[in-house]
Amino acid sequence: MKILITGGAGMLGRTLCRRLADHSIVVADLPEWDITEGDAFCLKASEIQPDVIIHCAAMTKVDDCETNRDLAFRLNEEGSRNVAVAAAACGARLIAISTDYVFSGEPPREPWAWGEGDFTSPRTVYGESKLAGERLISMVCPSAVILRTAWLYGAGGPSFVHTMVSLGTKEGEPIKVVNDQRGNPTSTDVVAEAIAFLLEKPEVSGIVHATCEEACSWYDFACEIKKLMGERFKREIVPCTTEEFPRPAKRPKNSALRKSALNVLGYRTSTWKDALSVFIRSEF
Ligand SMILES: NC(=O)c1ccc[n+]([C@@H]2O[C@H](COP(=O)([O-])OP(=O)(O)OC[C@H]3O[C@@H](n4cnc5c(N)ncnc54)[C@H](OP(=O)(O)O)[C@@H]3O)[C@@H](O)[C@H]2O)c1
Repeated sequence: MKILITGGAGMLGRTLCRRLADHSIVVADLPEWDITEGDAFCLKASEIQPDVIIHCAAMTKVDDCETNRDLAFRLNEEGSRNVAVAAAACGARLIAISTDYVFSGEPPREPWAWGEGDFTSPRTVYGESKLAGERLISMVCPSAVILRTAWLYGAGGPSFVHTMVSLGTKEGEPIKVVNDQRGNPTSTDVVAEAIAFLLEKPEVSGIVHATCEEACSWYDFACEIKKLMGERFKREIVPCTTEEFPRPAKRPKNSALRKSALNVLGYRTSTWKDALSVFIRSEF
């Protein structure tokens, strides 16, 4: 298949390029490809005539979105619409990547996890703009797959795993990590694998959640990174609350996702601990 990947130079995009290397891949990223330039994007895409567009490009810095609301919507809403228009014009299947931040993350708490059909109510500009993008994509391309993932890390980063390893492998004070936000740490390899599976299932459309199985807090995630790094990780990790670590964007308290759509297809993702162990071995 000929597959065009928007944001193909980003963290997930790079993993996809590697995983899908058997296909003919076109990386559509800045500066040559700009999803906010609708006409130019559509024209370039129509020259390629892709079978599939995987849409990863986005404004992904959650805190920056709070202070740059217009830019967040320009990329995540209008940019997504432009990609959907191009997919429709080319007759390409569209797989668009979205996020757990479309949910409020408010209680009910553990063991609650958000299903594909659950009510969305984002609490951040990033989440609002991604949800607005989802809606335009579904309007323009009703057969698109909207694949929501979460808490990503992948080769080269940047990610929470890279930050923890960089901090933890230097001597210093204990590292405080938030223990009252829960989600699904997810390797980009796991997402790429799920996308490879979906490429074999052209009949699938609509919202599909794809994260690793099982949920934990950022503190649990950090402790597992420390454990896997062994003696190379020199610092202690101590739990703290969200209030002790204020950020511009209000993170969801519980954004764990249920993978009903994939499970119905008989597909199971790895647990976050298994995927993390594979990643730490290969990356560090
Ligand atoms: N990272 C996570 O934890 C996470 C969680 C849930 C969902 N997601 C979603 O997963 C997708 C991929 O995320 P990621 O972590 O791989 O993000 P990333 O590393 O920031 O990759 C996004 C890519 O899009 C590019 N881009 C930005 N503006 C563009 C434009 N106008 N036109 C074309 N390309 C543009 C970026 O280029 P520059 O670097 O030059 O800006 C970057 O290469 C996104 O849709 C994100 O919302 C991510």
